[in-house]
Amino acid sequence: MNYKIGVISGDGIGPEIVREARKVLDAVCKKYEHEFTYTDLLLGGASIDVHGVPLTDETIENAKKCDAVLMGSIGGDAKTSPWYKLEPSKRPEAGLLGIRKALNLFANLRPAYLYDELRAACPLRDDISAEGFDMLIMRELTGGLYFGARKTEEIDGVRTATDTLSYNENEIRRIAKRAFDIAMKRRKKVCSVDKANVLDSSRLWRQVVEEVAKDYPEVTLSHMYVDNCAMQLVMNPAQFDVILTENMFGDILSDEASMVTGSIGMLSSASLNETKFGLYEPSHGSAPDIAGQDKANPIATILSAAMMLRYSLDLDKEADAVEAAVRQVLKDGYRTGDIMSDGCTKVGTKEMGTLIAERL
Ligand code: NAD
Ligand code: IPM
Ligand code: MN
Repeated sequence: MNYKIGVISGDGIGPEIVREARKVLDAVCKKYEHEFTYTDLLLGGASIDVHGVPLTDETIENAKKCDAVLMGSIGGDAKTSPWYKLEPSKRPEAGLLGIRKALNLFANLRPAYLYDELRAACPLRDDISAEGFDMLIMRELTGGLYFGARKTEEIDGVRTATDTLSYNENEIRRIAKRAFDIAMKRRKKVCSVDKANVLDSSRLWRQVVEEVAKDYPEVTLSHMYVDNCAMQLVMNPAQFDVILTENMFGDILSDEASMVTGSIGMLSSASLNETKFGLYEPSHGSAPDIAGQDKANPIATILSAAMMLRYSLDLDKEADAVEAAVRQVLKDGYRTGDIMSDGCTKVGTKEMGTLIAERL
């Protein structure tokens, strides 16, 4: 079969990690006799450098013509990069938020899984990591604080800035349904994370999630305050199956969850709308501190490519094969610096990609 894949290499380590994911996809094509046609798309800093803006209509239109988009990461160092001299709405991050909104990618899936092989890289106490964990953070991606009204002004000579956290019931219902649907294929547990002891938006969130739960009698629903969740993630991560939460809480909790898997370099992500289309990117950023040094861990991007095979292209067998190849490389003792531990062989970004592609 022939599939059209958009590729956003992005900034910083983006091009390095995307190159390795493509190496793995090329190996998938060869083994399973598929053809992928790639279209390069500009976003973030790379788009600013060419067009002066982080997202163009051309990128949106071309993305829509693809079956899925694979992305590295965007953004630069806020202190040194000229992109941050621009007004906020013209910076790289605005491009990422813009494409999420334009393509209606409201459901962000971030799976955090502890490979047995990475227990030595996991910062948790041995008795906690011994149990392992396998959770999916379902983050709402096109609402909340990220997209509410904001302004900076002077009120009576005092500099004041405002961001608004707003959700309507429809936005909550569709992400909740998606979380319950996915829970049905997993261990049938949803933990909805909010701050309903303080925020009106969280009180509505809780009500609507309860309503949706009625259609899923087999799924066990629990609620947890976000501050408690941050603590539970390191005390007892094995308790979680699907974590359902709003945009900002999901951003923060997913970085925390990534670290207990060993490194942020392991955490993949899929951003989906109501169709088969999706944008697939690692959960981490452009890591300007290690860009261009062949140090970045490409596994999060490679696992995101596996999610793309599964969710947008319906290539389950191929997705399984990529995930198995990642596991095999870890079993064989190869590690990038971020997940390195005693007795393992340290490799760079390129070699890690090659080793995974070879195991397909
Ligand atoms: P970051 O995730 O880029 O980096 C945080 C730390 O993790 C750094 O020390 C970095 O070296 C390390 N790290 C990240 N990915 C790694 C990998 N694959 N392998 C090894 N180490 C890795 O977060 P930040 O420094 O806060 O942000 C840098 C830039 O990235 C900012 O411009 C930010 O806005 C942007 N950002 C983009 C995305 C995205 O494109 N989806 C996500 C998060 C941050
Ligand atoms: C992420 C990133 C983005 C977010 C930034 C770069 C806008 O941190 O994908 O997790 O906050 O959503
Ligand atoms: Mn983030």
